[in-house]
Amino acid sequence: MMIVFFTVAFAAQAVPPGEEPVEPYTQSDANAGATPFRGAGMLRAFHGRTGINRMTDDFVDRLLADKRITDIFKSQDIVRLRRLLKEQFCYILNGGCAYTGRTMKASHNNLGIQEADMGALVEDLQAAMRKEKIGFFEQNRFLAKLAPIKREAVQR
Ligand code: HEM
Repeated sequence: MMIVFFTVAFAAQAVPPGEEPVEPYTQSDANAGATPFRGAGMLRAFHGRTGINRMTDDFVDRLLADKRITDIFKSQDIVRLRRLLKEQFCYILNGGCAYTGRTMKASHNNLGIQEADMGALVEDLQAAMRKEKIGFFEQNRFLAKLAPIKREAVQR
């Protein structure tokens, strides 16, 4: 019984390869900060899980190269950020993924993110979606879905 307990507890805390450990937290899709779209339309528009992963990698590359906000990402765990953004986007686009990251509030606490930083991130996301040739209507649907997260990420 004890062995089973420790195995489960350890598995839940396991740090994926290339990532740094974080303080324990409760995993839940509710942490993603948005509910998924219904149906397969948005997933199709983003070219399935392969398209989501490709677009998200390009998005993260743009964030890191963006002089306006690059300092915010210095000394953060980018391997973890990439993995969790892919999970979060796949979950929201109804691609059948679970989101295993922290809440949007907990993830962005104390990073000092301002309104303008959010604006820069949205521009980088738009550029990544354009490059993936996602329809303009679906781009805007996705951005509208993410918009409430601004309240959690921007520091007041
Ligand atoms: C729609 C808006 C946003 C979404 C959906 C989002 C999503 C995420 C996700 C999924 C994580 C990983 C959570 C975890 O490690 O458990 C994260 C972390 C992070 N985000 Fe955001 N984010 C948003 C806005 C922003 C903005 C505006 C900035 C700064 C320009 C930013 C900077 C960061 C940084 C630096 C981390 C790493 C924090 C750490 O490892 O402790 N995010 N974000």
